[in-house]
Amino acid sequence: MIAETSLRVEHLVQPLFVVDGEGIHQRIPSLPVAARMSYDYVRAEVKQCVDMGIKQFIMFPAVDESLKDPIGSYGLDPNNFYLQIARKLKAEFPEIVLISDVALDPYSSDGHDGLVRDGKIVNDETLEILAQMAVVQAGAGFDMIGPSDMMDGRVEAIREALDEYGFTDTSIVSYCAKYASAFYGPFRDALDSAPKSGDKKTYQMDPANKREALLEMELDTQEGADFLMVKPAIHYLDVIQLLSEHSHLPIAAYHVSGECALIIAASEKGWVKYDTAVWEAVQSIKRAGASMIITYFAKDIARMLQK
Ligand code: PBG
Repeated sequence: MIAETSLRVEHLVQPLFVVDGEGIHQRIPSLPVAARMSYDYVRAEVKQCVDMGIKQFIMFPAVDESLKDPIGSYGLDPNNFYLQIARKLKAEFPEIVLISDVALDPYSSDGHDGLVRDGKIVNDETLEILAQMAVVQAGAGFDMIGPSDMMDGRVEAIREALDEYGFTDTSIVSYCAKYASAFYGPFRDALDSAPKSGDKKTYQMDPANKREALLEMELDTQEGADFLMVKPAIHYLDVIQLLSEHSHLPIAAYHVSGECALIIAASEKGWVKYDTAVWEAVQSIKRAGASMIITYFAKDIARMLQK
C-alpha cells in the first residue's frame, strides 16, 4: 500500500546481440547473462521474452571484422544481416516493439561512433550516414530508431530523413545524456567494437557534468526526439531524476553492461544476493524517474514479477 514505486514488465527492454549465420550462441564471458545469437536463437529468445510479457527489444549487430570499413558502409546495406533479422522478427512477432541502434561503431574499422579523420571525429559529415542508416532501419520494420552516437544535430538529421522517406510513424529514442563511461566494457566485448585508437570523450559526456544534460535535453527535444535516454543508469540516477523533472518526454534509462556485470560478478563470489541486488538496482532506476528501462536483467525481473 505504501510502496511508492512499482516495477512492471511493460517498463523493461531486452537487449539482443545478433550475428550472421545459423546455430550460433556465444556467451559473453564478461556478461554471462547475454550472448551473441544467430536468428534461430534470437527467435527462441524473443519467444521466451514475449511469453514472459517482455515485448520491447533493442538490437545490436556483431559484425565480422572483414565487413568493417572507415565509413561503416555495411550499416547502410539494406540486405545486411541485422536488417534481415529485424524483418523476420517483425513478421513473426508483429506485437513486439523493436528498437534499432544508430551509430558507426559496429560497422567501423576505427571502432568509433562517427567518421574519423586525422584522429578526430568529423561530426557533420557523420550526420548524413546516420540519417541514411535510420532510413534503412525504418524500412526493415524497426519501430523506434536509437541513435547512440552522440553526434550533435543527429536527431534533427534523422527526423528529417525519416519524414522525407515517409517513415513519419517511426519514433526516435535519443541517447540524450550518454556519458563517456568505464561501464561499456562487456558491450564492446560482445560487439568487438572498442575504439581502435583514442577514446570517446570528444563526443560522449563528461561524468562530472549534470547541467550539460539539460542542454542536451533542450537540443534533442527541439530536434524531435520522442524519448530521452540517460546512459549509464545506476551511476547517473541524479541525471535521470533531473531530466524526468525538467522534460515532458518519457525518460529511458540504459542499465549498461558493466553495471550489470558488477552484480553478476559479486553474486558469483557470494558477496551479494543475485535476485535482491538485481531487483533493487532496477527498482532504483524506476524510482529515479525512468519509464523505459533497458537492462540485461529484464528476464530476471520478469521471472521475479511472476512469482
Ligand atoms: C555504442 C554503444 C555503446 C553501448 C550502446 N551503444 C558503447 C559505447 O558507446 O562505446 C553500451 C551499452 C552497454 O554497455 O550495455 N554506439
